[in-house]
Parts: sequence; structure tokens; C-alpha cells
Amino acid sequence: LHVLMVAAEAVPLAKTGGLGDMVGAFAPALHRAGTAVTLMLPAWPGTLEAVEDVREVARFDDLPGGPASLLAATLPGVGLPLLLWRNDALLVREGSLYLDHDGREYADNPLRFGAFCHAAAHVAAGLPGLPGVDVVHAHDWHTGLVPLLVRDSGAPVRTLFTVHNLAFQGNYPLEWMDKLAIPAQARGSEGCEFWGQLSFVKAGLVYADLLNTVSPGHAGELLTAEGGHGMDGVLRPRAAQLHGILNGIDTALWNPADDALLPKPFSAADPSGKHACKAALQRRFGLPEDAFAPVVALGSRLTHQKMADVALEALPFLLNRYPRLQVAMLGCGQPQYEQGFRELQQRYPRRVAAHIGYSEALAHLLHGGANLLLHGSRFEPCGLAPLYAMRYGTIPVASRVGGLADTIVDPVEHDPQTARANGFLFDGDAPAEMVEAVERALAAFSQPRVWRQLQRNAMQADFGWPRPVERYLALYAQLDQPRPRAAR
Ligand code: ADP
Ligand code: GLC
Repeated sequence: LHVLMVAAEAVPLAKTGGLGDMVGAFAPALHRAGTAVTLMLPAWPGTLEAVEDVREVARFDDLPGGPASLLAATLPGVGLPLLLWRNDALLVREGSLYLDHDGREYADNPLRFGAFCHAAAHVAAGLPGLPGVDVVHAHDWHTGLVPLLVRDSGAPVRTLFTVHNLAFQGNYPLEWMDKLAIPAQARGSEGCEFWGQLSFVKAGLVYADLLNTVSPGHAGELLTAEGGHGMDGVLRPRAAQLHGILNGIDTALWNPADDALLPKPFSAADPSGKHACKAALQRRFGLPEDAFAPVVALGSRLTHQKMADVALEALPFLLNRYPRLQVAMLGCGQPQYEQGFRELQQRYPRRVAAHIGYSEALAHLLHGGANLLLHGSRFEPCGLAPLYAMRYGTIPVASRVGGLADTIVDPVEHDPQTARANGFLFDGDAPAEMVEAVERALAAFSQPRVWRQLQRNAMQADFGWPRPVERYLALYAQLDQPRPRAAR
């Protein structure tokens, strides 16, 4: 079995969010488990300097978007084989991977990712000098055309498409059907057309042999009108092929006992170092160093999905009610929410610290030093940030949706003294619900024995990769039965 994993981002080479974390942890975990896996990514600026053994293995002259090359390389320290699709005209940009400095999608994103999908389909179908591919595993809308193009190629290769965030669909005007050479028989509403547009994600959902998302809970939500992001009608007929596999986390990268980004290590057995981390967080964020102040962290994209609006309404109430409460926010996103947190900081100086920006180092300090992580989500396919927080003994207060409901156990259901409780959950998006859950967490925080037990439960929960890897291998095994060419 040789798996070609195709994604737009993977840590440590490229990351805008949890997709990069997941792919960058999962592919090496598969590799370490002994599976032959090659990870194919765009050669984003900086990538070639960060990898080893770079050599050109193919040139493409017939792809949309102009000439491109394919480079083979390996990921340092891991030995994971990589394929990097290089087209500097499409990939080298001033802003982030997908958006310009003003937060607008690059106008040629369909071309950028459409060309990448074509390149991946060529690799899947077989290129001279490269090992044959049995299964293609594609992630999110950027790679949505891959299952369609692989099927169209007639190659005896099967595909798995993983949904990380169905709110991002890659829907573009129909003229892109021609520009991206979408096969005629795939252009209709049974194919990749979606309400008068070409939909990258729909192509993945329709043409992949198997589908999954990143938690069992979210797999169920995707089949509903409320949770399906308009694609529930596409997904329901495919319910039998839709699986839910909870993400793991990289337990080496996110390890409080061995984290160079923390001033002091700590663990469930010896949590004393967390005090120094909390003091460092307070200093770094300009908050008074107060060991007894409950520090509530927020760390995510500042978006509607992540309930930034609800947090901005709930926090003043909590700050007024609990005079010692401190808030440390790390995030960036929609300008109105960034502005909202700036204003909250002005209104509550030395109690609210808003760091508007993106910083891996600060994310580690935030999880290491805070007491609570406030993580509202209107939907959350998995939700990695609360898993990192839990590993660092920071108790999540989060929405009862998707992967959060699958991983966070509220003491209402399980007594922390006896059972597995490791966080607090709330329903809906009313600020009062969020406030109530934070208040329950603060009540627990004031009882050291209860809090210690919650922390132990959170820190000892098993969020490693071995279990998810087993589940993905079972899906690959289902796929690894080449069907006759004629049947495709
Ligand atoms: P999503 O992928 O929906 O954004 P996840 O919680 O699964 O949600 O993953 C988000 C990832 O991005 C986490 O690793 C989180 O720490 C990181 N992240 C988000 N915002 C920031 C930021 N401003 N600075 C550093 N890391 C961030
Ligand atoms: C997406 C989801 C998030 C998930 C991540 C990794 O960005 O929004 O819930 O954890 O992908 O799978």
C-alpha cells in the first residue's frame, strides 16, 4: 500500500490553522507506523529551504496556470518523503497562503489550487521514476478536484477525502470549468456544479470513494441541514461512506514536560512548573503577576465560527463580576473582532491583554500559563486548540459541538473526583450560556482539589495518534482493492 497524501498545508512547512497541524502530525505518524506515505504539498516560499534531498522528478507543461515542476524531497528529522509542486507565478505572494494583506481571497485561487489538483492527479496516475500510488488521501477544498480527476484518469487508484472545515468550499464562477479542464461528464449538478458555480469541495464529496471528517460527532452534524453548510443534501446519499475519525495531536511538539517555549517544564505528576509559566504569561502579556488570579485565555482565529462576537459580549460581564479575573487573548482574524478586543483591553487595562497577531511561541506560553481556555465555536469539526490546552493542564470552557463534545467531558456528566471530567461545555451562542459555563469553571478553580483532578484528567487524556492511525489504516485497507479499469 502506497498512500499519496495531498494537502495545501502541513506543519512545519506551512500552516494557517488546524489543517496544517493535522496533516503535519498525521503523515509522519503514518510513516512511523510503517506505512508507505508520500506527502504532496505546494512548494510555498521557504519550503525548499526547510527540506532535504531536493531533486526535480518531473516537469509539467500542460497544466492550467503554466509550466510547473515536481520536486521530491524529505522532511528533516522524520524522513517522510515529500513531493512539492512548484509554480512560483502561482505560489509566491505577498499575503498569507490564501488571502492578500486586506484579507481578500486571491482572485486566481481557483487556478492556483486547480493546477495543484491536476498535478496531484498526474502523480496518482503514475509518473516515470516515481513509485505507483494505490490510495490518494486528499484534505479540504484545496484538493477537492483530486478525487474527480483521479477517477477521470481511469487509473486503478482509490481516494479518501477528509473534510476539516466545510465552511470553506472553493466555489467559483462556472467559467472555471473550462479553464480548469473539468471533464464534461462531471460538470452537471450530479457532479461538481453547486448552485451555478464550480465547487471544489463538492467534487471531493461526490467523487471520493470514501469520506471522513475529523470527529465522529461532526460526521453526524454534516448530515443535517443545520450542520451541513449547504452540502448535507450531497452528503446524505453518501452517509454509508462518511466516517468520523478524531484527530490526534503531536504529543512531542505539544509536551509541557519538554517544551523549549516554556520557562519551566511541568507534567501531570509534577505540575509545579505551571506556576512559573503563569507568571511568565502574565509578564509577557503585561498583566499583574498574581498567582491566584484566574487567567482566562482565548487563542484562535477571530471569526464568527469561533464565537469572537459572543466572547466580546460575555467577557465584560465576567470581568465586572470577578474583580481578580484576567483575560489573555491571542488571535487575529476579522477586523471588527480585532477592534473589539483592542477596545476591551482599553476598557479593562491590566486585566485584559489582547495580542492581535499570529505567534506559535505565544500559543505555547498561552496554553502553558493560563488556567482556563475559553473556546466558543458555532461549529467545530475537531478543535485542536482545546486539546493542546488540556495537555498543558489548562481547562477548556467550550461549545458542545463536533469534536469538542467528543473530547471534553463536563463534570455535570462525570464527577471530577471519580471520573473523567476534564472541562466545561455550553450550548448555543447566547453570551449568558458562555458566562454560566465560565462561572462553573471559576467555582471549580476556587476548590484546589477539584481543580487538580480536572487538570490530571485533562493532561492524561489520550489524544495521541496511534488510535486514529489505526482507523485511517482500516479505511485505506478498504480502498486498497483495485477495481478493473472498465468499471470506472
Ligand atoms: P481551526 O483549524 O478551525 O482554526 P483548530 O483549533 O483545530 O481550529 O486549530 C487552530 C490552530 O491554529 C491551533 O494550532 C492554534 O493554536 C493555532 N492558532 C490559531 N490562531 C493562532 C494565533 N493567533 N497564533 C498562534 N496560533 C494560532
Ligand atoms: C479545521 C477545523 C478544526 C479542526 C482542524 C483540523 O480547521 O475548523 O475544528 O481541528 O480543521 O482538522
